[in-house]
Amino acid sequence: MSMGHSRILGSGFVVGDTLVTNERMAKVVDTTNEWIKERSGIEQRYFVTEGTATSDLGVGAAQKALADAGLTANDIDYIVVATMTPDYYFPGVGSLIQTKLGMTNVPALDIRQQCSGFVYGLQVADALIRAGAAKRLLFIGCEIHSGFMPFSPQGWDVVMGRSEGPIPQSEKDWNSKFRHLLVLFGDAAGAVVMGPSESKDRGLLGFALHAEGGPVESLYVPSAGFKYRPYFSEAHVKEGRFVPVMDGKTVFKMAVTKMPEAVHEVCAKAGVTLDDIDLLIPHQANLRISEAVQKALKLPDDRVYNNIQKYGNTTAATIPIAYDECKKSGRVKQGDLVCFVGLGAGFHWGAALMRE
Ligand code: UT7
Repeated sequence: MSMGHSRILGSGFVVGDTLVTNERMAKVVDTTNEWIKERSGIEQRYFVTEGTATSDLGVGAAQKALADAGLTANDIDYIVVATMTPDYYFPGVGSLIQTKLGMTNVPALDIRQQCSGFVYGLQVADALIRAGAAKRLLFIGCEIHSGFMPFSPQGWDVVMGRSEGPIPQSEKDWNSKFRHLLVLFGDAAGAVVMGPSESKDRGLLGFALHAEGGPVESLYVPSAGFKYRPYFSEAHVKEGRFVPVMDGKTVFKMAVTKMPEAVHEVCAKAGVTLDDIDLLIPHQANLRISEAVQKALKLPDDRVYNNIQKYGNTTAATIPIAYDECKKSGRVKQGDLVCFVGLGAGFHWGAALMRE
């Protein structure tokens, strides 16, 4: 059994193939670029073309992370995937990604912790490596949110830039029932390759994870689900119950309270202070949330990274995408203390500390 730290050996990400601006969203939803930017910071997002699955994005990100680590798919001995938007209701996407990567059979595990999927999955990956169950582990956060959108085929033509519309007003009215949610999300995947650290000074240093089911209905998808028989029905489609329900204000308040708490907790556990953190990478749900977390922690701008402006909220993919951008741009350098923090549906939240 290896009792040393695990560390990230390489990273990479991909986004959906079609860039969708706020202005384009406003053609199918009663919204404006100004509202979206002011309330969320988001300027654009990417959606996949119909037919691309979450596993496909996962494969794209995995290939980039493998190349970055100087490894091939056959070096990998374990796959962990965080997604709330798998290709099928079941199974998860881990085994599908394995096959698409042309790998021989290795264990594949899906976890579903939504926006804190990456922070939770890091602990799972770290534990597997420390226990000696994996030496070269591929950990992917991948999501296709466009499947949640209630747009008609004609509406999608407008969103994807294949038509200028307009769509019928009745359709725009229907879409606009969900407007606070539809403007926030994008499709993307981020991946990391992990393995044992060669030094006790590098790698994952600690975690502070939490969950609480009480407020579940503040952020969830009411259908499909086995609370119902059958688990999906025409009535669910007509009522739009396949679109996530989100009480934005409740989620916002939880995020700006629990995320700073988790950062304090993980620092205390690891015996470091907030001053020691070189870079905080928060889950990208809303720029205003990140700014409030930054303020609560009294961190200067150069010690917090945000990129939601470009991608929207990509759930389990936001943190690995941000990490990869920071690595490639030199914002994260060897020896830096990096803190990841997130909160999402369930509710689940937490933070992880890593010495790069
Ligand atoms: O990772 C977890 C995922 N989710 C989150 O983290 C969400 C956290 N919450 C949020 O990000 C924010 O609550 C939102 C961005 C969702 C909403 O911002 P808000 O400042 O809480 O706005 P609100 O829901 O209170 O709505 C304010 C107004 C309302 O109009 P009235 O009642 O003041 O006339 C809404 O109807 O803005 C209206 N509105 C919109 N207007 C234009 C809601 N959505 C839109 C929209 N475009 N897309």
